[in-house]
Amino acid sequence: MAKTITVIPGDGIGPEVTEATRTVLDAAGADVEWEEQVAGLAGLDRLKSPLPDVTLDSIRRNGVCLKGPLTTPMGTGFRSINVAIRKTFDLYANVRPALSMVPGGRYEDIDLVLIRENTEGLYVGVEHYIGLEGDPRAAAESVMIITRHGSERIVRYAFEYARDHGRKKVTLAHKANILKYTQGLFLDVGREVAKEFEGQVAFEDRIIDATAMQLVVDPYSFDVLVMENMFGDILSDLMAGLVGGLGLAPAANIGKDAAMFEAVHGSAPDIAGLGVANPSSLILSGAMMMEHVGQAPVASRVREALGRVLEDPSRRTRDLGGSASTSEFTRAVLDELE
Ligand code: NAI
Ligand code: MG
Repeated sequence: MAKTITVIPGDGIGPEVTEATRTVLDAAGADVEWEEQVAGLAGLDRLKSPLPDVTLDSIRRNGVCLKGPLTTPMGTGFRSINVAIRKTFDLYANVRPALSMVPGGRYEDIDLVLIRENTEGLYVGVEHYIGLEGDPRAAAESVMIITRHGSERIVRYAFEYARDHGRKKVTLAHKANILKYTQGLFLDVGREVAKEFEGQVAFEDRIIDATAMQLVVDPYSFDVLVMENMFGDILSDLMAGLVGGLGLAPAANIGKDAAMFEAVHGSAPDIAGLGVANPSSLILSGAMMMEHVGQAPVASRVREALGRVLEDPSRRTRDLGGSASTSEFTRAVLDELE
């Protein structure tokens, strides 16, 4: 039976790259029924809400969502629609692979996966100003929240991911030397979980700043990395940079009952509507989604076809130094699938 999947085209370049992704997945033989919903600016426009209930109901029902980038409208009470979706469905694991697909970059053959905690840390939004001597913004304070529950499930997810994908090592990156309580708890819980996987998956821990340097100097010394929310946000962009930039960076947001697949990049208002966006990031997210719904052969076909197009400089999009439009690039991937 076909799997029903909620698809949110999104804002800016979202509709262009989402259309490309659907076309490619369909051509690769995805057994999928698409249920289109709106959010972000398009949601506000059509249903007067940046996060309409029908959209949330659809994700709840289907448990899987492909989402184009969303622009968070000002003055609607949302810090970020993307964060709101992650929170609503408790999508605690943000999985961000960095895989070399374009030859001639800084490095060849990079194959790393960063697992970022998606619900805690400094991004819980507990922050305020402190007024002093007539200055209402004399200081500001943000709270970093780390729980045993949150730490345990993300590190466990990283180990299970490593084991199930035939990977050798999990590196837990942290700042426990300075943030002894929050990061210390994350590290301690991580070490406990690691013991359960002894003999199956190797484990090491590293200070976050040293990890950043080591990723640039010798990325091959890593395999799967796991870390708290903000560190993961920063290092996943660094890792995207190692393999050619945001146009090639996919992401999965995984929870117990739902999963959302999206590009790491945003709605790129500067190139929206020009037909030049690189759809690879969302296509790769789509491939991850096919694996998630038990259609791994579709994912392999998509990655192979995309890889062959990316190897050819004349078929690349502008962000990768080529001149292909979004539709020419998509056509090239479809040709490779035939
Ligand atoms: P952005 O990722 O949209 O754009 C950054 C730069 O990268 C721009 O120069 C853009 O043209 C380029 N770029 C991004 N994706 C590209 C692609 N597929 N092909 C070619 N070039 C691409 O980040 P920015 O400008 O900071 O944010 C724009 C909007 O997107 C904001 O409203 C932001 O809130 C939203 N956003 C949404 C995200 C999501 O839905 N998950 C994630 C990040 C930002
Ligand atoms: Mg980010």
